[in-house]
Amino acid sequence: TLKLVVIGGGSSYTPEIIEGVLKRHHQLSFTEIVLVDIEEGKEKVKIIADLAKRMIQQEKKEIKLSWTLDLEYALREAEFVTTQIRVGGLDARERDERIPLSHGFIGQETNGAGGILKAFRTFPVMLQIAEAVHRICPEAWMINFTNPAGIITEALLKYSTHKKVIGVCNIPYHMQQSAAEILEVNADQVLVEFIGLNHFVFGRRVEVNGIDYTEELTERLDHNHAKYSPANIIHLGSSKAFMQNMKLIPNPYHQYYYQTKDMLATQQRAYKNGETRAKAVKQLEKQLFAIYQDSALTKKPEQLEERGGAFYSEVACRLMDSLYNNRKDIQTVNTLNNGAIKELPDDAVIEVNCFITKDGPEPITIVSLPMAVKGDILQMKAFEELVIEAGISGDYHQAYQAFLANPLIKDEKRAKALLDEMLAANHKELPQF
Ligand code: G6P
Ligand code: MN
Ligand code: MN
Repeated sequence: TLKLVVIGGGSSYTPEIIEGVLKRHHQLSFTEIVLVDIEEGKEKVKIIADLAKRMIQQEKKEIKLSWTLDLEYALREAEFVTTQIRVGGLDARERDERIPLSHGFIGQETNGAGGILKAFRTFPVMLQIAEAVHRICPEAWMINFTNPAGIITEALLKYSTHKKVIGVCNIPYHMQQSAAEILEVNADQVLVEFIGLNHFVFGRRVEVNGIDYTEELTERLDHNHAKYSPANIIHLGSSKAFMQNMKLIPNPYHQYYYQTKDMLATQQRAYKNGETRAKAVKQLEKQLFAIYQDSALTKKPEQLEERGGAFYSEVACRLMDSLYNNRKDIQTVNTLNNGAIKELPDDAVIEVNCFITKDGPEPITIVSLPMAVKGDILQMKAFEELVIEAGISGDYHQAYQAFLANPLIKDEKRAKALLDEMLAANHKELPQF
């Protein structure tokens, strides 16, 4: 038997992972999938479970699929556990985006103040889940998508007893696919060397069949390549000057850091019209769940590609496949630094190319940070460490320090006002504060 437990199974993203499992079933033969959710997600998880069953039936696979609200029951004899939860739901996300904007800051789900509060809300819940995993299925791999994925993964590796935790994101996958498209080659011929942190990762070198194509790519990559950005991020595009002079390929989230004024202006315009990404996603969710309820639907609908996390299943399923089958192939994941980036602590989580074996990921890149971004990456990691310390302890001083250390805030008076308002607005989901 081979059992997968999807925590947050009522997510509109779940058909992704079902599709990924079905596609690989000949080499990663799951016999059982359990979708877990909480009381508030009950109606959604039922709909998803019905759709998942139809998808499985359509592909004529022998996989037992069920849903439950009982986490501990679900975890029994699980080999893989994926986590895709959103503590506080989309209402909390809306606050994460709206409150910073109302103070004149970037309002984003995983960056700036929004990302900090999302981390604070998520730590207690994810730690509980990790402890349950450790108690009930200690050999299981926990594959974490829950954002901010890098920070959550580092917090678990530091503070939970369960150590088989790997963080994942679709951004490196998306960048590799886009690079292949721009270079007009197959994605499996392209290798991008990634270094940095989740949603703050850079492509350092691009190879096609082992030959360096970095310059080629930076020449061709310009603002016209909207494909380079997933659906959730405003796409201004990076300049050729950036790439040619930095000799690094930024990820779409870097726009918030290196084009802050333009990104903020764009966000503010939308915000004045009452628009946030959270609102758009609420709309999209409504549409998706209406589609999912159609009993004639037996596969993942195309509309799911309008979500920023589209194709995350590729990342999750490739990873589980290589862990299970000891493939030793190269994938980009969030894992312990352990000396890969010399300037960062061993216990820091980085996003980096790794060999994936049955014993887990092993970083293959060993580098000193490029001078051009060394300061920024060190700053971001110090910031992330503060978020973890503050969010675990509930210490106000550390929370303030985390706010001030964030490159998108950096304003001592407004930082306090923003922090206070956000702590108050989230108090229900912050037992530690
Ligand atoms: C990207 C990120 C994910 C994030 C998603 C948001 O894909 O890598 O970490 O969750 O976008 O997309 P959404 O559709 O929820 O705005
Ligand atoms: Mn088994
Ligand atoms: Mn991500």
